[in-house]
Amino acid sequence: MSEGIPGEPSERFLRACQRLPVDRTPVWFMRQAGRYMAEYRELRQKHSLLEICKQPELAAQVTLQPIERLGVDAAILFADILLPLIPMGAQLEFVEGRGPVIANPVRSKADLTRLRPVNVEAQLDYVMEALRIVRPMLPDGVALIGFAGAPFTVGSYLIEGGPTRKFERTKSLMYSDPQSWHALMERLAGTLSDYLVAQIEAGAQAVQIFDSWVGALGPADYVEYVQPYSKFIFERVRQTGVPAIHFGTGTSTLLPLMHEAGGEVMGVDWRIPLDRAWELVGADVGLQGNLDPTALLAPRPVLQRQVKRVLREAGGRLGHIFNLGHGILPSTPVEHVQWAVELVQNSTEHGQELGT
Ligand code: CP3
Repeated sequence: MSEGIPGEPSERFLRACQRLPVDRTPVWFMRQAGRYMAEYRELRQKHSLLEICKQPELAAQVTLQPIERLGVDAAILFADILLPLIPMGAQLEFVEGRGPVIANPVRSKADLTRLRPVNVEAQLDYVMEALRIVRPMLPDGVALIGFAGAPFTVGSYLIEGGPTRKFERTKSLMYSDPQSWHALMERLAGTLSDYLVAQIEAGAQAVQIFDSWVGALGPADYVEYVQPYSKFIFERVRQTGVPAIHFGTGTSTLLPLMHEAGGEVMGVDWRIPLDRAWELVGADVGLQGNLDPTALLAPRPVLQRQVKRVLREAGGRLGHIFNLGHGILPSTPVEHVQWAVELVQNSTEHGQELGT
């Protein structure tokens, strides 16, 4: 794939981001590095999640694990969407079996005034350093993805102090103290966009913005409380010329509004078929997704049927990037993941999926 046209990328993942023709559908998986892999679990016996993130050599090593094991078309930097909250002053910990916990959540105007401004290059340099290490180590044709959370999803952890199902405190702040809500979103949008631009300067060739939980909102609230801040971030990324993927779950009713906020590619989950999602966002947008991660736990014939259905719904359109609708589950057998990657690769060569 080295001949190419000047100005066009040769990596099939980056080509798909620009909706250029590809030799086969690019594939990577959210959470492709993690506990389902023995080599990751082994490293985690010796180091906490935060230690791995903060030591660039270790973060680089974990980023590369799925590249070696799976043969996917993109590497996503090993980090976490909550890291930028640490220099803002959040006491963040990852608790076994519970997930992220923030001991000093932000729930009032007074809490908000204690948040510190962030110099991302200085205070999150370990992330940029990991990118600088990984980029030259990637095999030919494999692209490097940086990422950040979107203001709503990151803000919800900061307000709730941990994972939530109902977003009660988040929506309470939004509705009862809109001034503080907007001030918080503005702060997050500033820091998160600085963070993405710094990652791009350090070697990220595409970025994904995770608004994983934005599906908790209805369209009117999305427009009023969230969209302007996501838009701000995508506008800053757009100026760098690097493609952005805009991901969320449960977003069927939000997709056109999220697309309006930005993103060359929209990431969708399994709750909406890709052909329906394309009707909503228009044919000039890429789509990433959307296998149900639990399909990777299923017997092979079922997994095969599910993969083929995703490809059929994508219909060989330009701009399809095969992925899951959310992250790989820790109980997933690694052989199933390898098998799914091969299935996508073998059945989309030269657009074969159109005929199957
Ligand atoms: O391979 C990759 O995809 C890159 C690494 C990555 C991690 N977190 C490492 C991680 C990425 C892209 C993220 C993003 C992230 N982090 C999101 C958005 C994506 C999503 O899943 O919706 C969110 C919401 C977070 C916050 C977060 N981090 C939670 C809720 C948890 C606990 C859930 C769990 O699976 O335990 C984490 C911990 C975390 N971040 C792990 C990993 C690999 C768990 C593994 C460990 O403890 O070693």
